[in-house]
Amino acid sequence: MTILAIETSCDETAVAVVRNGRDILSSDLFSQADMHAMYGGVVPEIASRNHAVALGRLVELALKNAQISKNDLDAIAVTAAPGLIGALLVGVNFAKGLAFALGLPLIPVHHLRGHIAANYIAYPDLNPPFLSLVISGGNSLIADVQGYTDIRIIGRSRDDAAGECFDKTARVLGLGYPGGPILDKLAETGDDMAFNLPSPKIENHPYDMSFSGLKTAIVNIVHNAEQKGETLDTASLSASFARTVSEILVPRVFAAAKELGHHTIVVAGGVAANSRIRADFIKTAKEENKTLLIPPLNLCGDNAAMIGAQAFYEYKGGVIAGTELDARATMEVSENFTHMRNYYEFRTSTRTHRI
Ligand code: KG4
Repeated sequence: MTILAIETSCDETAVAVVRNGRDILSSDLFSQADMHAMYGGVVPEIASRNHAVALGRLVELALKNAQISKNDLDAIAVTAAPGLIGALLVGVNFAKGLAFALGLPLIPVHHLRGHIAANYIAYPDLNPPFLSLVISGGNSLIADVQGYTDIRIIGRSRDDAAGECFDKTARVLGLGYPGGPILDKLAETGDDMAFNLPSPKIENHPYDMSFSGLKTAIVNIVHNAEQKGETLDTASLSASFARTVSEILVPRVFAAAKELGHHTIVVAGGVAANSRIRADFIKTAKEENKTLLIPPLNLCGDNAAMIGAQAFYEYKGGVIAGTELDARATMEVSENFTHMRNYYEFRTSTRTHRI
C-alpha cells in the first residue's frame, strides 16, 4: 500500500511517500525555522501561510523523488492533531482536496503516534508491545504501546514539554531558535555538574514530570548574573541543563518499563536527538539489559515519513475520514479518530439545508 503523507502541525512543511508503513520512497521537507528565529519562536500565522505556499510544490517533489505518479497512490494521510490549529488546517484541507480529487481514502494521523512510528521505519522488526517515551517541542509523555493503535498514557509533563524547555532556555540565554540543537552543541564543552538545577517529583504520580521549575531556575540564574554584571558560563549551564532533563526522563522510563514488564523501550520526538539524553538512555539500557530503540537524527524531528508509517496501521485498524475531517489543536495520543466521523457528519448534516 503506497501512502502519500502530509505533515504541517508546526513549522515544518513535509510530504513523504511511504510503502506498507515501513519503506520510505521519498521524504521532503521545507523548514521555516529561520523565518521564526527572529521572533524567538514559532509565529502561528507565519507558519500557516508558509505551509499554504510550500505544500503544492512539496507534493509534486515527493512524487517525483519517489518516481511514481499520483495514480500509483493508494491513500492520502495527514496529521490532523495535535498542533497549531491554523497550520494543521492547511495540511488537512490540502489532503482532503487531494483525496477527493484522486478518489482515494483519507487517513488522519495523530502527530505523536507518528513520532513513535518513526521507529517502525528505522527498525523494521519492531512491533508492539513496547514502552515509548515521546519528547517533542509540544509534548512529553510515557506511553504503553500495546498495539499500533492501542496506546495508553502512563506519565506526562504537568506543564512545559521538554523541547519547550530547551527552546525557552536558549531564548533567555539569547542563543536563538530552535534552542535544542544550539544548547546540545554548547554543552559539549561545559561542566555538567557546575549548576545544581531542580528535578521535581510529583507526589503519587511517579511517571509524571515537570519542567517549568527548571525553566524558572535558568531564568533566575541568567537574571542574577545580569544584575551582578557577571559573565555566565553558558556551556556549563547548557551541560547541567541537559543532565537535569536526562535525570528527569531516564529513571522514570526505566521504572515504568520494569513495572509494566516491557523489554523494549522506544524513544521518539525532536528532543530524542539530544546527545546527552541519547547517551544516558543507551548506557542505562545496557545496565538494565533492555532493548533500546531511538530513531536516527533525521527521523527524530518532524517529518512526513513517520505520518505515512503510522497511517498504514491506522488504515488497517479501520481509520478513514471523509471530507468532513476537522483538525484538532489538542488530542490525547490514546484517542482514536474512528469515533469522530459520526460527530463531524452530525455537526454538518444538522445545519445543511437546500435553499
Ligand atoms: O518533534 P519536534 O521536531 O516537533 C514537535 O513535534 O514538537 O521537536 C522539536 C523540538 C524543539 O523544541 C527542539 O528544540 C528540540 O525538539 N530539539 C532538541 C534537539 N534537536 C531538536 N532538543 C534537544 N537537543 C537536540 N539536539
